[in-house]
Parts: sequence; C-alpha cells; structure tokens
Amino acid sequence: MKRYHGTLPGAARCRLIELQCDEAAPLHSAVALMTRWDGRRFAGLRTESRTIERRTPNAERQTVLEKGASYRYVQGQAIPPNSLCRAAWANLMSSATVPSKRRAFGATMRRDAWWTQPLFVFLGLATFLVYSTWAAFQGNHYWLDQNGANYLSPFYSPELFGNSPHAIFGPKPGWWPSWLLFSPALLVLWAPGGFRLTCYYYRGAYYKAFWADPPACAVGEPRIGYPGENSFPLILQNIHRYFLYLALLFILVLLHDAWSAFWFADPSGARHFGLGVGTIVLTLNVILLGSYTFGCHSLRHLIGGFLDEVSKQPIHAKCYACVSRLNGRHMLWAWMSLFWVGFSDLYVRLCSMGIWHDWRIF
Ligand code: FES
Repeated sequence: MKRYHGTLPGAARCRLIELQCDEAAPLHSAVALMTRWDGRRFAGLRTESRTIERRTPNAERQTVLEKGASYRYVQGQAIPPNSLCRAAWANLMSSATVPSKRRAFGATMRRDAWWTQPLFVFLGLATFLVYSTWAAFQGNHYWLDQNGANYLSPFYSPELFGNSPHAIFGPKPGWWPSWLLFSPALLVLWAPGGFRLTCYYYRGAYYKAFWADPPACAVGEPRIGYPGENSFPLILQNIHRYFLYLALLFILVLLHDAWSAFWFADPSGARHFGLGVGTIVLTLNVILLGSYTFGCHSLRHLIGGFLDEVSKQPIHAKCYACVSRLNGRHMLWAWMSLFWVGFSDLYVRLCSMGIWHDWRIF
C-alpha cells in the first residue's frame, strides 16, 4: 500500500492520509495497518466505492478493497472534536488534492506572508514568558493597600503563604529551605501555567512558532516522520483535561479577588463599596480568563454528553452550546486574557511601587 499525506484545509491539526491499494486487501487489514501507523489517533475513515464483499474460507463475510481502490482517512495530531473532523472531511471531499511529494523544510507554494503569524505568536509568547517569570520571582509589590485599596496580583493568587494581608496561611513557613528562593507566586503559578501550556490552541500555535513543526499550513516541515502526540514527551499534553479542573478553581479565586477589589477601607478600617481603576482591571481580568477557560475544548467535551453524541438533556445541550460559542473564539480569548493577566500584575506592581497611582472613581 502507498501512503500519501495532505493537510486538511480549515483544520490545522488534521491531516488527510490517502492509501492506494496495489493489490486486493481485506478492509480490516488496511484499517489495522492505518491504526499501526497512526496509533490511537485514528480519527475517521472513508472508503471510495470500489469495495467488494466476499466469503472467507470459514464462510465469514469480508469486505475487500479492490486493487487500485483508495482509502482516505483523517489523522488528528491532537484529536479534534469529531464534528470538526467531519466538517473538515466534508470540506475536503469537494476540494482537496493530495500532494504526493514531500516539500523541503520551509518550501511552499504559498504567496502570502505566512511567516507573520508564527512570528507574532513567537514574540507575544516570548514576551509574556519573560515578564511572568521575572514577576513571579520578585516576591514583592504584588498587592496594593494604599488609599484603602484591596488589590492582589493574579500571578500571586491564591496567596497561600506570604507577607500580604491576602496570605491564607500566614507568612513564609519555617520549614521552607533557606537556600531555596521563596515567592508566593511559585506555589501557585504552575497550575494556570500548565493549563495554558497544554491548551489545544496554544499547542498548535507554539509548535509552529517555536519549533516550526510545521512552520505553517502547506509549508515544508523539518521532520520526515509524524508521530504526533502519541509518544513521550508530547503525550503528556493529555494532562490538559486535569488542569482544567484546577483552572476552574482559579476562576473562583480570581472572582473573589475581583469582588474584594470593590471594597475600600476607610481610616477606621471599615470597608465601603467603591470603584477604582484597579477594580476595573481585576474585574476585566476574571471576565477574560473566564471566557478563555469556559471555552476550553476539554470542558466542551466534558459538558457536552457522550462519545460522539451530544447529550439529549436540555441543560447539557444548553451548556454545550454556550461553551461552543466561547470555543469558536478560543484563540481571541486566549490572547486577550494572556495580555490582560500580565497587565493586571503590572498595574498592581507599578501602583505598589508608587510609579502609577490608582485612581479612585468613587
Ligand atoms: S483547549 Fe484551550 S484552554 Fe482548553
């Protein structure tokens, strides 16, 4: 059997595999062969019309692929929802051509500036990584209590141990090794960081931007093989569904922080409802992070129903529709929330350092 690769238009993580049959072969052996090539990422199969039925020596019915007939199937690097595969397939049946020749790394017939998107993704993510790492290691200027404000940087929330009034269990614990740098952010930042790192959208984005695999759709890639995310280390990306539970808890915590930011202390220590620019910054932060988290592919899968089937219960169907709506703009929410969570930390930090001043609206 010959194998041809092609990338599905409109489905960045899918590939079309076409198999050409040199000689008659039972359907199940072809499927087994494809499954072996593709591991558990076998996502969909269509046969062309030329299959025949025959009886095996022990009278079982067997579907056989005729000589010269072809199979096509969709291979998912990370399995996208089946509906996406189906949509991509429908799109493809009318339009796809399957190139049989491998392109050299970077070679393409595209005439547009395809490299701009990976370049901007690289710059955006690299800037955020550098800033957030620096901010996480600072261990100070992460809260603001001047003029009665009650702000906490989202990078440091929830603050388990620390010096601010927000610390749940008090100051740095005595058992913390003296040689080990302490910052409250390091105790919690791994959870939202892991959630983003394993996000389906970000995976596609940083695979392209950071290690050119592939550099862009229909552009030659550096590798010959295509193991996808079936093996170590990328198989660990499947942990995303578990990070989702943590991310949902973080949304609750940040919601609490945003609500606390509405309450300003007067000189006697009593708190009154008010609004400062920081309140708006922290409220917007939780709205954007919530829109990103509630549009997660894993949540959509979790909430939608069963394997290949949307739940018939109206409440499930409603939730599925809501998550799908957010999911349709997942990339936009991902970038807006990334930018704003970094800005929220910067805002609290600069106000706490006295470089900016928080404006109290009422
Ligand atoms: S897929 Fe992006 S957050 Fe889950």
